[in-house]
Amino acid sequence: MELIKAILLIFPAYVANASAVVIGGGKPIDFGKTWGGKPIFGKGKTWRGLIGGCLCGIATGCLINYFTSYFGNGIEAFTVIFALSFGALAGDLIKSFIKRRIGKKRGEKWIIADQIDFLLGAFLFTYILNKNWFLTNFKLHIIIFLLIITPAIHLATNIIAYLLKLKKVPW
Ligand code: CTP
Ligand code: MG
Repeated sequence: MELIKAILLIFPAYVANASAVVIGGGKPIDFGKTWGGKPIFGKGKTWRGLIGGCLCGIATGCLINYFTSYFGNGIEAFTVIFALSFGALAGDLIKSFIKRRIGKKRGEKWIIADQIDFLLGAFLFTYILNKNWFLTNFKLHIIIFLLIITPAIHLATNIIAYLLKLKKVPW
């Protein structure tokens, strides 16, 4: 039961990250600019993916909260849901920034980082925006559980996205 709750708590981040792949495209967030001869984020990070993904994560969080109240009430709930959704995409963006700096091309595999970037981003932003909610809900064993199951879920969904031709590579 507690583990089902853990998955529901992080679900807005999962949806934000996955829907960015489906919605993404168009103008890159870095507008194609480079830094030191390498792309800042690369063409795989777009405004449409960022904004669309964030909105899908928020909608999912609101739906979960309607039935569970896990995220709290009113503005507090919205802040937590926003932090989980936006944080997921920010984590993915920070990962791409680091990836470009170490010379990895867009879409190139970077094992573990590619799988948990959005999870760490969601944790970080939730901690920053509502420390109290974070510490009450993301207890250490819950964080460890999510860190372990996320790469597996991520790999499975990416293989599906690849087979549906939403992604160029299955990671
Ligand atoms: N995507 C997007 N905008 C985002 C995140 C993702 O448009 N903010 C879309 C892009 O089409 C991207 C795809 O989702 O190619 C897969 O995302 P991801 O694996 O995170 O990006 P990569 O293309 O693999 O690039 P990177 O090497 O920077 O991870
Ligand atoms: Mg990738």
